[in-house]
Amino acid sequence: MEVSVLSFSGRANGNCAAIAQEIAEQYADAAVYSFAGQAFHPCGPCQAECFQDRAACPYADDGIAALYHAVLRSGLSYFVVPNYCDYPCSQFFLFNERSQCVFQGLPQLLDAYLAAPKRFVVVSNTGRNNFVEAFKQHAPEPDILFLSAKRYGKTSLRGDLMDAPQAREDLRAYVCRKV
Ligand SMILES: Cc1cc2nc3c(=O)[nH]c(=O)nc-3n(C[C@H](O)[C@H](O)[C@H](O)COP(=O)(O)O)c2cc1C
Repeated sequence: MEVSVLSFSGRANGNCAAIAQEIAEQYADAAVYSFAGQAFHPCGPCQAECFQDRAACPYADDGIAALYHAVLRSGLSYFVVPNYCDYPCSQFFLFNERSQCVFQGLPQLLDAYLAAPKRFVVVSNTGRNNFVEAFKQHAPEPDILFLSAKRYGKTSLRGDLMDAPQAREDLRAYVCRKV
């Protein structure tokens, strides 16, 4: 089974990167896709061309569509998302908005995407309901593991959450569940 792990943090060596790596190591065929260091374009600096013609998005080739297609062809995908100010970080919303230039005029493809199996891992102490609502754009009933650094005696900004044995164990237990 192909597995895709999307790490939404802009920080290359933080908790999300370590969590994504840990998830990928549990599978024979997993690919990690990181937002760190990527020049993905948000929606807005354009004329919303995609509403008329999906392919006319001026940023169609920046790699966001490839992420959606990775999720579509995967047997399971993980979204690893940090909490910024009680909500998913801006990279998540960028990804969310850009779905327009992937699915506009293709309702069956959108249905296939929504049905594609997904799991969500959030680095967060706060704002849980906001994540549930945001993830509903990607899965009708999002299956979410919240990893609270405080609970493991860590400070999340240090980026060493995976050094806490219990956090690693809780993540592995989540990953090991059957799809
Ligand atoms: C701008 C900013 C806002 C944050 N807001 C919250 C917050 O509201 N609640 C929380 O639990 N953590 C918050 N955090 C902590 C991050 O979720 C945490 O550092 C996480 O590990 C970041 O992911 P990374 O380590 O992969 O970069 C915030 C961090 C930043 C940089």
